[in-house]
Amino acid sequence: MTADPAILYAAHLDVLQSRTAAALERGRLDHLVVPSGTLRYQLFDDRDYPYAVNPQFKAWLPLTRNPGSWLVVTPGVRPKLIYLQPHDYWHVVPESPSGPWTGHFDIVVVRTADEALQHLPKDPARCAILGEPQSALGAFVPDNPPSVIAYLEYHRAFKTPYEVEMMRQATRAGVRGHRAAEAAFRAGLAEFDIHMAYCAAARQDACQLPYNNIVALNAHGAVLHYTDLDLAAPSRLRSFLIDAGASHAGYACDITRTYSHDRGDDFQSLIDAVDTAQQAMCSQVRAGVDYRQLHLDAHLALASILADFGVIKVAPETAVATGVSSAFFPHGIGHGIGLQVHEVAGFAASDSGGLLPRPEGHPYLRLTRVLQPGMVVTIEPGIYFIDMLLEPLRQGALGTSVDWSRVDAFRPFGGIRIEDDVACTDGAPENLTRDGFSGA
Ligand code: GLY
Repeated sequence: MTADPAILYAAHLDVLQSRTAAALERGRLDHLVVPSGTLRYQLFDDRDYPYAVNPQFKAWLPLTRNPGSWLVVTPGVRPKLIYLQPHDYWHVVPESPSGPWTGHFDIVVVRTADEALQHLPKDPARCAILGEPQSALGAFVPDNPPSVIAYLEYHRAFKTPYEVEMMRQATRAGVRGHRAAEAAFRAGLAEFDIHMAYCAAARQDACQLPYNNIVALNAHGAVLHYTDLDLAAPSRLRSFLIDAGASHAGYACDITRTYSHDRGDDFQSLIDAVDTAQQAMCSQVRAGVDYRQLHLDAHLALASILADFGVIKVAPETAVATGVSSAFFPHGIGHGIGLQVHEVAGFAASDSGGLLPRPEGHPYLRLTRVLQPGMVVTIEPGIYFIDMLLEPLRQGALGTSVDWSRVDAFRPFGGIRIEDDVACTDGAPENLTRDGFSGA
């Protein structure tokens, strides 16, 4: 397989063409019409929200800053890009289309959003129009036909080699950010400054990152989606949990690391144990493995660590069966990732619909499909000390399952999460994140 991105991109478009032909056949339609998305104003204000491109658009094009453009795909015909390049001296306007991708599209440049209308197919009723309501243009009102969406989203789980390469590139930026963030933590900086160090090293700001950075010192690590950024460093530094990604050509990486300030303490040993278990879980990202089983196995592995560290006083199997492990590991083992950090169709039973349920008692798992080559998933086990979850356990009948003095010792450190992005192949998994850190 070649690593030349231009060749990979051409092959990627071939895959999208055939998926689109099949999806349109399902919907008995002739054209796929995809607006890139629109700017939206804040309430009672003339400031717009950060623009987020329609994922159905960026699946085809490495364009993430082009509101008001349209893509038209008709099976058997070269795809058409209606490219909005307004005359505007208030804002930076998109540059004229350039790059190897342009050779694959018939490109029409328009100067106003309304002008696009004359270049769209004649009959909107023959189109699957995939977009948000505010992208409507004349009779081209996004209708998102369920049969078309179901087909495209189900198959989007299977990344083309081009997409995996874009995710490797995103990982490179994320790794730069993570390295800088760890150095900033070791230097004693505040969460805000660590975040800024991350952005500077990744060369991306909050609008480009695929999700809000989680930069959590000490007990803040116990808030799963902690996105405040304290301006002052705590007087005593104990730990650092950072969950931060990066984007490349519309594709995301999603990486979490946890550090202890004192590399010789118990919390570091706990991190090391989770890290070893996490790598074993990553090695299970193989074709035919039910992701739900990976999640359940993760509970057992983490409960074993809790038992080894004296946090629980019952057998790991008992901790899982009674739900005690869920108080320490209250989220899913991960999710699909690609064009969106939480990739769509995580529960899809087939390309024509149906849902694969979560295991009972595990309401936050985001992916229930059987892994197949091409899927890219995160593997992100965690152990947290979250008062809101532990207090009812302490008060209830299962309170004796836990050594609360151990919980009290770990609580100021917040929690641990270690997360890699892993590609399922027809052989050994490819750990995009570990490869990124090792420079492979
Ligand atoms: N890493 C952020 C999330 O998965 O929500």
